[in-house]
Amino acid sequence: MIRTLGVLISGRGSNLQAIVDAIAAGTLDARVGVVISNRPEAGGLERARRAGIEALCLSHRDYASREEYDRALVAALRQRGVGLVCLAGFMRLLSPVFIEAFPNAILNIHPSLLPAFPGLEAQHQAWAHGVKLAGATVHLVNRDLDAGPIVLQRAVPVLDDDTPERLAERILEQEHRLYPEAIGLVLSGGWTIEGRRFILRNPAIG
Ligand code: GAR
Repeated sequence: MIRTLGVLISGRGSNLQAIVDAIAAGTLDARVGVVISNRPEAGGLERARRAGIEALCLSHRDYASREEYDRALVAALRQRGVGLVCLAGFMRLLSPVFIEAFPNAILNIHPSLLPAFPGLEAQHQAWAHGVKLAGATVHLVNRDLDAGPIVLQRAVPVLDDDTPERLAERILEQEHRLYPEAIGLVLSGGWTIEGRRFILRNPAIG
């Protein structure tokens, strides 16, 4: 798989930063070709520029439909030779136009142990439900929300005196380790999809 990443963000971009740091530290063999935000105020755009990465804002408000916006995203990513798209706090649903342009080459990170607590504010959902184990998931993106094949997960215990904010912070720490690891695994290419399952062909390589 082509090792040029396109990272899509909507906010502060701490997962983007973790990817950039892992590449700089030599633990992830990849390059970030472009960072795109749908929101001009996203702090992650500044992080990208500081790291010398092209940072673009494509505002969804400038497009008449979801499909038109997604076509613009696909074009921007293709122009920069992106082989793997990494959603890192990108808070927009993607249409089939986007999903079909990058088959099995879009990753997302979600702050819960999927399939529990898809959608918004997953950490708060887990805390309010009273689960004892929360966590984070990196998965391939398909047409269904937060439901594609799972690449890696990490559990985070929920403490009796947790607040949703404290829990979210500890999950985020794990996200920052998990995402670069999962990207490395997917780029290694030694995997197949069987049904819903992401399977390493030779676990020794992973
Ligand atoms: C992260 O916690 C990520 O898992 C979550 O948004 C946050 C982005 O933070 N994503 C979702 O909830 C997607 N459904 P960041 O901008 O600091 O990386």
